[in-house]
Amino acid sequence: MGVFSRIGSTHEGLPVVANASLRRKVSSFLPICVAIVVLVEIAFLGRLDNPSLLDALTSFFGKLSSPTKPSSGSNVGSGTERCEEWLEREDSVSYSRNFSKDPIFISGGDKDFESCSVDCAIAMNSNKTPDAAFGLLGHHPGTLRILRSMESARYFIQNNIAHARRKGFGIVMTTSLSSDVPVGYFSWAEYDIMAPLQPKTEKALAAAFISNCIAQNFRLQALEALMEEANVTVDSYGTCHRNRDERVEKVEALKHYKFSLAFENTNEEDYVTEKFFQSLVAGSVPVVVGAPNIQDFAPSPDSIIHIKQMTDIEPVAKRMKHLADHPDAYNKMLRWKQEGPSDSFKALVDMAAVHSSCRLCIFVATRIREQEEKSPEFKKRPCKCTRGSETVYHLFVRERGTFDVESIFLRDGYLTLEALESAVLTKFKSLRHEPIWKKERPESLRGDGVLKVHAIYPLGLTQRQALYNFKFERNSSLSTHIQRNPCPKFEVVFV
Ligand SMILES: *[C@@H]1O[C@H](CO)[C@@H](O)[C@H](O)[C@H]1NC(C)=O
Ligand SMILES: *[C@@H]1O[C@H](CO)[C@@H](O)[C@H](O)[C@H]1NC(C)=O
Ligand SMILES: *[C@@H]1O[C@H](CO)[C@@H](O)[C@H](O)[C@H]1NC(C)=O
Repeated sequence: MGVFSRIGSTHEGLPVVANASLRRKVSSFLPICVAIVVLVEIAFLGRLDNPSLLDALTSFFGKLSSPTKPSSGSNVGSGTERCEEWLEREDSVSYSRNFSKDPIFISGGDKDFESCSVDCAIAMNSNKTPDAAFGLLGHHPGTLRILRSMESARYFIQNNIAHARRKGFGIVMTTSLSSDVPVGYFSWAEYDIMAPLQPKTEKALAAAFISNCIAQNFRLQALEALMEEANVTVDSYGTCHRNRDERVEKVEALKHYKFSLAFENTNEEDYVTEKFFQSLVAGSVPVVVGAPNIQDFAPSPDSIIHIKQMTDIEPVAKRMKHLADHPDAYNKMLRWKQEGPSDSFKALVDMAAVHSSCRLCIFVATRIREQEEKSPEFKKRPCKCTRGSETVYHLFVRERGTFDVESIFLRDGYLTLEALESAVLTKFKSLRHEPIWKKERPESLRGDGVLKVHAIYPLGLTQRQALYNFKFERNSSLSTHIQRNPCPKFEVVFV
């Protein structure tokens, strides 16, 4: 039955499990089998746009096969039932709290988002004990305390994650992508990142808008050195080294300069402010003093210039002058404006497609679920199903920025990264899932409706780990993870 091995191994059909005992049964149903082969072929020809057809077909097989004894020593209730169905039922322990009836409640703030994938109330005060609360006031035992700030931890030590933990904050929301619920400056809504380029009509090479002349890093020295020693022409509109006296709209003005001096007042990981994103909107190549990992925020490789230290000033000045004289090389740095930014950049900015307060609610609700999953009731879930020599694993996955998880199934022998990705795509396609960024991204970046996986990672990782550091290196590490964590949950980032 060649078709079964195809169902079992073809990329798009992977989550469908063909089980061995079924295979034996089927050989006695030859005419029906032929009809089904034809149907399956049609499904493949149709590029499996409707994966539920395959599901229907396999459950049809299930019904065809006569009842048999359960395979010896297995977890299966009935030999006629597909492992998936059995697992769906056996693993679906209900949670004690229904968030639709008893929403997440967060005190000390205002509800500032329209919709969220988990029911959530945010209010200044209430008689009810909150699940989480901003700040230190009105603290109840069992309430998670939230620290939220967009200020640099270099200036405000209380924003340092380890420091905040020591002070008893259960949830940290800062610009750090390692915080529990990151609050970045970036978003599609705030910045028209794909705004078209304007002619570079200004004589000076770069523009600077720096108004706080006391900084914790070397940005003032860098500005002076560029202007005075390296002889780079800079129009300075801010109070520091001001040489242009007009009042201008910053982004409009920047559009006409080849370079923008996006100098932050501190060099801190992930601390990237509007200075940088406004330069991208303007299509003025950012010359950055700031986050050591600024390249993670670049719209494409080789689209920004980073001054890491004072000794970089001379080579950077040389490079700026060279680019200014070589339009081809310069235009390459802005090619992303036509071609679109990298997937990595989209995956970063898409995070903000879901309001930070909603992401906070999801974080709290997920915590509550995880606590409950430690109970004996949940520990009893089988999470895998063995029939004969084959084992099917039950996994859960959700899109980043959403709360509810969906079931997917992998069988041993196919605990591979490819199979996981394929099972996720098949599942979300069958649900006609619309990714979180669909309404937020600029029109030109909304894709052609085909879901594409950027990252899949175990639920609970920080965004820094998820987007930049984590990777199942080998099939074996995924397989080990699945075997060690019954009913494991994953999060997927679509681009
Ligand atoms: C949760 O409550 C809502 C609204 O009362 C109800 O429609 C839903 O079925 C409940 N969910 C579960 C899993 O009990
Ligand atoms: C500095 O720039 C000016 C004008 O752009 C130019 O005339 C001058 O020769 C430059 N000096 C040095 C040392 O590069
Ligand atoms: C995982 O296994 C599949 C199928 O055996 C193989 O094609 C793939 O290269 C493996 N991937 C890694 C990362 O080892």
